[in-house]
Amino acid sequence: MKILAIETSCDETAIAVVEAKGGMKNPRFKVLKNLIASQIPIHRPFGGVVPNLAKREHIKNLPILYKKIMRGYSPSALNYIAVTVGPGLEPALWTGINFAQELSEKIKKPLIGANHMEGHLYSFLLSQKAVISNSKFLISKIFPAIALIVSGGHTILLQMTAINKWKKLGETLDDAAGEAFDKVAKMLGLPYPGGPEIQKLAEQGNPGAIKFPRPMLNKLNYEFSFSGLKTSVLYYLRDHSQTEKADVAASFQQAVIDVLVKKTIRAAKEYKAKSVILCGGVAASKPLREALRISVKELQLNFAVPDFQFNTDNAVMIAAAAYLNLLDKKKNILPIEARGNLTI
Ligand code: KG4
Ligand code: ZN
Repeated sequence: MKILAIETSCDETAIAVVEAKGGMKNPRFKVLKNLIASQIPIHRPFGGVVPNLAKREHIKNLPILYKKIMRGYSPSALNYIAVTVGPGLEPALWTGINFAQELSEKIKKPLIGANHMEGHLYSFLLSQKAVISNSKFLISKIFPAIALIVSGGHTILLQMTAINKWKKLGETLDDAAGEAFDKVAKMLGLPYPGGPEIQKLAEQGNPGAIKFPRPMLNKLNYEFSFSGLKTSVLYYLRDHSQTEKADVAASFQQAVIDVLVKKTIRAAKEYKAKSVILCGGVAASKPLREALRISVKELQLNFAVPDFQFNTDNAVMIAAAAYLNLLDKKKNILPIEARGNLTI
């Protein structure tokens, strides 16, 4: 079936057309069209996403992207429209929902809601090469799995027994990993979004130069906390005005990676996982991917990570989440309304 998916939960207006096939044991996705209008240059002067500006930009971008994506297509070729209903910024979510609802009435295609976090989780399915240690993609080699979802708004560890069955082991008690990257980048005078900027600066620094704390590392639970680490960086910068900023970036990045990797690996051992899944915007971090890949390989487990293009927000992953929801007859249908705090 063909799904037109719409994503407006934060600062990317994204529309995609995806062909989805197969059952729960063998879902396959072919990306037919994938458009993203990034608002980064608009929010950059403010050092973060401004919800009302995001809303204004989504309203402006949606009809333009829709027109562009439907060039050469007839709406009759589509089977469903999918839209992100949460979590995210509610004014931004509503723009996508309102647009999708009007479109659904106009072209007479059913509308389904999708959870943005499920989109991130399923983004590893979008590449046949996703399971790095196997050249062939085999879902039977994935579950049971441990999934680490790290984005600008969330840091969640899941224990998965099947593609549609999971238990939340823990999440962040305060800042999300991506949020910590963005805030520390701001302290270092780097532009928004901070993650890629910190990664770039860290390449010239020494990750062992400054001993920043590894919050919650030795706590025997699966919760995370990054706010204390962020404060340590703030105090360090206040007390060491002549410091080498690249060393601060590298040492901070290393502290985040150490915590994420160690907790994920501990969960993989405890729950006897066959694989580890890494997803969400922060999964675009090359040093994090590499560190987790090495640790997972040492345990002789499979490692599943999305292609770079599907780590940060996109609408292809929303189509994937919607399709898997359609396949899962037991799953509660999400109401078509914005839910900023929707969980996974
Ligand atoms: O998933 P995403 O696109 O949006 C949310 O749903 O939040 O994630 C965006 C987050 C931002 O905080 C950004 O700084 C972070 O992902 N990020 C990175 C990297 N690339 C993006 N963090 C660390 N290293 C990166 N290379
Ligand atoms: Zn996201």
